[in-house]
Amino acid sequence: MVKKDIYILGIESSCDETAAAVVKNGRIVLSDVIASQIDIHRKFGGVVPEIASRKHIEKVMPVIDEALSRAGVELADIDAIAVTYGPGLVGALLVGLSAAKALTFALDKPLIGVNHLEGHVFANFIADDELEPPFLALVVSGGHTALMRVADYNSFELLGQTKDDAAGEAFDKIARFMGLQYPGGPEIEKLARGGNPAAVDFPRALLDQGYDFSFSGLKSAVINYLHKEKQAGREISRDDVAASFQEAIVDVLVKKSIQALEATGLKKIVLAGGVSANKTLQEELAKAASAVGVSLVYPKQVLCTDNAVMIACRGYYKFINKEISGLDLNADPALKLV
Ligand code: KG4
Ligand code: ZN
Repeated sequence: MVKKDIYILGIESSCDETAAAVVKNGRIVLSDVIASQIDIHRKFGGVVPEIASRKHIEKVMPVIDEALSRAGVELADIDAIAVTYGPGLVGALLVGLSAAKALTFALDKPLIGVNHLEGHVFANFIADDELEPPFLALVVSGGHTALMRVADYNSFELLGQTKDDAAGEAFDKIARFMGLQYPGGPEIEKLARGGNPAAVDFPRALLDQGYDFSFSGLKSAVINYLHKEKQAGREISRDDVAASFQEAIVDVLVKKSIQALEATGLKKIVLAGGVSANKTLQEELAKAASAVGVSLVYPKQVLCTDNAVMIACRGYYKFINKEISGLDLNADPALKLV
């Protein structure tokens, strides 16, 4: 018997991107539509939740229509709808979730609730079609920083996570303090290109204390440094500060990842979440991993940040594992990684 192809429609609306995508058999991307609100929120220096919800309402159905039409499929061809139900902004999440519930109810199709952070990890199955668990995942987004062992497609173990700020959050806060625009990660990265990463020795917290992270001390150290230099009337190289700050974050992320690889014996590591778009992180982790015989996978730029392809991919593996959600599924803004 010929195996039937499985088409999953993914929907993502957890923060400031309204996205929909159609993915075939878990790994073949038929469409990937993202309506970004970044330009609107930039004026406020960060995401304004109420505005985000309203924009998602305007965009969600047009984005879904566009994803179906670009994929050349109709709603009737879709086997299931996968949607992010957390973590994220509650009002934003509810828009995508309500659309997914209404469509699955009207079409009598399965609804699959997806954890946004698992989605980020699954973007790597799109990046590399040979990738199979087990592997180590370094999840670095705007709200989370964690090391996770992906034992199987539906089995994850949290090894450690941040005790305070997430890596992306630290990038955003320092960028804001330095007068750079939102989101701060790409801005710091740009500035850092012209700077010396060894110019200022910023602290690396909890380096030899397991797999938990802490970035709030680093954030304070950078702010104190900028204040002190200004008070002393010394000229500051913004490029050097950006490069040294970025290096302090990347150094901790890479060292902890290598410690976790050595302790678990895992032979593959993947990067997940918005900060994985950072070239210095990609290069330094690739180098350190290769030195211990481990290969690194990370998604292409557009799949590092929020998108619906990763949600459809995660949804596919839940679908074939018969993990279907009920219509009582609610948005969970504080949904945990594991
Ligand atoms: O995964 P994501 O798009 O949204 C969340 O789920 O949080 O991550 C957004 C975060 C922001 O903090 C942003 O500043 C950071 O990812 N980011 C970067 C880069 N691109 C995005 N951080 C460092 N370097 C980058 N190139
Ligand atoms: Zn995200």
